Amino acid sequence: MFDTMTFTKILGGLCGAFLIFLLGKWAAEGLYHTGGPDGGHGEAHADAYPIEAGDSHGGEEVEEVDFATLVAEADIGKGERVFNKCRSCHSVEPGVNGTGPSLFAVVDRGIAVEEGFGFSGALTGLEGSWDIDALNAFLESPKGYAPGTAMSFNGLPKDADRANIIAWLATLN
Ligand code: HEC
Repeated sequence: MFDTMTFTKILGGLCGAFLIFLLGKWAAEGLYHTGGPDGGHGEAHADAYPIEAGDSHGGEEVEEVDFATLVAEADIGKGERVFNKCRSCHSVEPGVNGTGPSLFAVVDRGIAVEEGFGFSGALTGLEGSWDIDALNAFLESPKGYAPGTAMSFNGLPKDADRANIIAWLATLN
């Protein structure tokens, strides 16, 4: 619950920063177009500047959120629901392979080592294991990460979906 709140706060911060950016831009354009010797308007627009300063503060928050943090703060229940997109091909029972290999204990498992599954050369040709970064990249774009892979799945474009499902997969071991 704490994790969800933190994540929500970060999201809120991002939305807020964007809104402030839009407001600042709008105010700046207004000031530019007015341009006349109307003192009253000038003062009203001057109020916009302190808000614009808040924009750079929001920018700092964005940089602090790396993917490992998203996984650490992920919503495991939502991750299980994201798995509905994988179920038609993957089981999470140990040793039960379908169209795709079993994803039981896949986090930190070697790439293409599941017994009894015929992996394509696109995966057997990769070194290493399915750590968070590798899973993140593969699930965002399976064909981008492993060109020619037999996994016909377009990928999960949302950072939150990938963070949530990886956090859920990590609970299976
Ligand atoms: C249409 C079927 C299909 C769907 C949908 C699918 N996969 Fe796959 N997946 C495969 C196949 C087939 C492979 C083996 C690919 C190869 O050998 O190139 C694979 C391989 C993988 C691997 C590598 C496993 C290993 O042992 O190296 C992971 C991780 C994976 N899939 C995760 C997912 C996740 C998570 C989803 C859902 C978001 C998903 N897949 C959706 C068919 C699918």
